[in-house]
Amino acid sequence: MLTLEQLRWGTVTELMQFHDAGIPFADWGIKGHNRPFILATVPFKPGQTVVEIGGAYSELPQHIARQFGCQVHVIDDFGVESGEAEMWSRWGQREELEQKNPDVKYIFDRAGNFGSTVIPQNFYDVVFSVSTIEHIPETAMAGVFRHMEAMLKPGGLMVHCIDLQIPLKLHRGPGLQSLLAGTLGYWLYFAAATPFASAAKPQLKTLRGWKSFLRQTFGSQFRSAPGLQVEGAVSSSLNSDIVLEPMEIMYKIYPPKNQTKFYRRKGTFVMVLRKS
Ligand SMILES: C[S@@+](CC[C@H](N)C(=O)[O-])C[C@H]1O[C@@H](n2cnc3c(N)ncnc32)[C@H](O)[C@@H]1O
Repeated sequence: MLTLEQLRWGTVTELMQFHDAGIPFADWGIKGHNRPFILATVPFKPGQTVVEIGGAYSELPQHIARQFGCQVHVIDDFGVESGEAEMWSRWGQREELEQKNPDVKYIFDRAGNFGSTVIPQNFYDVVFSVSTIEHIPETAMAGVFRHMEAMLKPGGLMVHCIDLQIPLKLHRGPGLQSLLAGTLGYWLYFAAATPFASAAKPQLKTLRGWKSFLRQTFGSQFRSAPGLQVEGAVSSSLNSDIVLEPMEIMYKIYPPKNQTKFYRRKGTFVMVLRKS
């Protein structure tokens, strides 16, 4: 059984609390929220088996291995299968990672590859990801989630930090008309589409769409923790506390690079699932 314990936006208030508490990796953007969120949420213990899916060049896995005495792996094919290898190589060469982070074992494969001989199943106490899930094609998502669930031991925790467009001001243009078209149009479309979604063709544009995807993927093996409320698109649009991708990142990293472009607010949300 997989129990959904959290499905909510990451907040600026929380990010500031991570700073106040001196939690390592606290910074001022999405990853500056997400990495400390992992440290603040997971009660890491010595000897636990932990894997970051899409760990890429992050220093967090090495920190978890050193600080808590966990056995830490990273599963990442560095964009080979998705054709994004050039994009992810901007931080360095993957071959150098093992020397740089000697306490981490790198597995050069991808979640979703069920036939993998190098990815263990029923092995990890913790499976987590930061800014990775949104890079997976929606049609491959059910396979990736089933595979991650299979990697997890009973009693284990799955924690994902996922970037998602906030359904506000999605239409280009400054006027009220485009604000309404972008926000209401988006909300109406996805509110109408979510009930008709399937695991093979999910609607992953809203938090409720994600919850419905989990239910469809795991069926009777999925449940929500009692009292868990998931924010709708309208409430998400009005929520001013969501941690956003800083404009500097949007300007520099996303194509066309280093050029003026329309700034859509991209936020981050967290998902916590427990396997029993
Ligand atoms: C934005 S980077 C992740 C950044 C990293 N987690 C951090 O905190 O700096 C996304 C990574 O996800 C990896 N990735 C995408 N799909 C994957 C999959 N199915 N299994 C494992 N890694 C995947 C990509 O190769 C890429 O290295």
